[in-house]
Amino acid sequence: MALKIRKLAFALGAEVTGLDLKQKQSDDAIAQIRQAWVDNLVLCFPGQDLGPQEQMAFCSRFGELDDHRSRPHWNRPDFPEVNIVANKPVVIGGKTLQVLIADKWHTDMSFSVRSATASFLLSKTLPPIGGDTMFANMYRAYDALSPSMQAFADTLEGVHDVSLAPDFHRYTPELQAERRRNHPPVVHKVVRLHAESGRKGIFAGGFLRNFIGYTEQESRPLIDFFNTHSTAYEFVYRHAWKQDDLLMWDNRCTMHFAVQDYDCSQLRQLQRCTLFAPVSGRFLDAGQPAAASTGMA
Ligand code: SIN
Repeated sequence: MALKIRKLAFALGAEVTGLDLKQKQSDDAIAQIRQAWVDNLVLCFPGQDLGPQEQMAFCSRFGELDDHRSRPHWNRPDFPEVNIVANKPVVIGGKTLQVLIADKWHTDMSFSVRSATASFLLSKTLPPIGGDTMFANMYRAYDALSPSMQAFADTLEGVHDVSLAPDFHRYTPELQAERRRNHPPVVHKVVRLHAESGRKGIFAGGFLRNFIGYTEQESRPLIDFFNTHSTAYEFVYRHAWKQDDLLMWDNRCTMHFAVQDYDCSQLRQLQRCTLFAPVSGRFLDAGQPAAASTGMA
């Protein structure tokens, strides 16, 4: 079986049609999807009206599902592997879920020693217009640096801090304290080699606080440069959601940004699964328990 793949933008992104993801996919189809994902960084599967269990079944074919135990306030109570991304509090099974508005360029879970490989986001309720998500190709961003800047960036390590989350200021003081406790600052290389493509990409984003060996004040201009440079128009794809679009993106070589260009009195709700990456970072404070197998700090 050959997938029907149509590129959505020059920089990254492709649409995959001809599949009903409610059905169990063959190993061959999963291998083809994986290759298309590695090649295109973001895939859109339109018209996939999946329930939480169906979404989990598809996503788990690509790796280990994050059960989100270190950040339970966004999870469905019945299926903790399924996060709800909503701009208003949503009640499911008697549990009121925390709002999630990701309006800052970031890579999912970069504040964890096991950052994410794939994220899968399925649109459930959309505002009448707007509420797009933008994605940036971090390979292209790296390739476009001068050789001198590439060589310097290759030497840098960055500290990622959960308290720089886009909506951290919306949390209660108790939730802020819990988030800091569960996710103490971690260190990742600023340039990472992708395990499947073998290409180098910049690993920056909104959680990046400073570089090891440099103060926050010294680091800030270069962090701002990496984030601005990486999100230039020519490196970006902007996805205008349709109902039941399932997006699958590669956090190892992209960043994304949820654009708040819609009537925020309207509900925007999506459901997300995330896959654990192998351990690729370390805790800044070596005294932290290395509970990386669970994603807990
Ligand atoms: C996310 O950062 O996973 C959510 C993106 C979105 O709301 O579009």
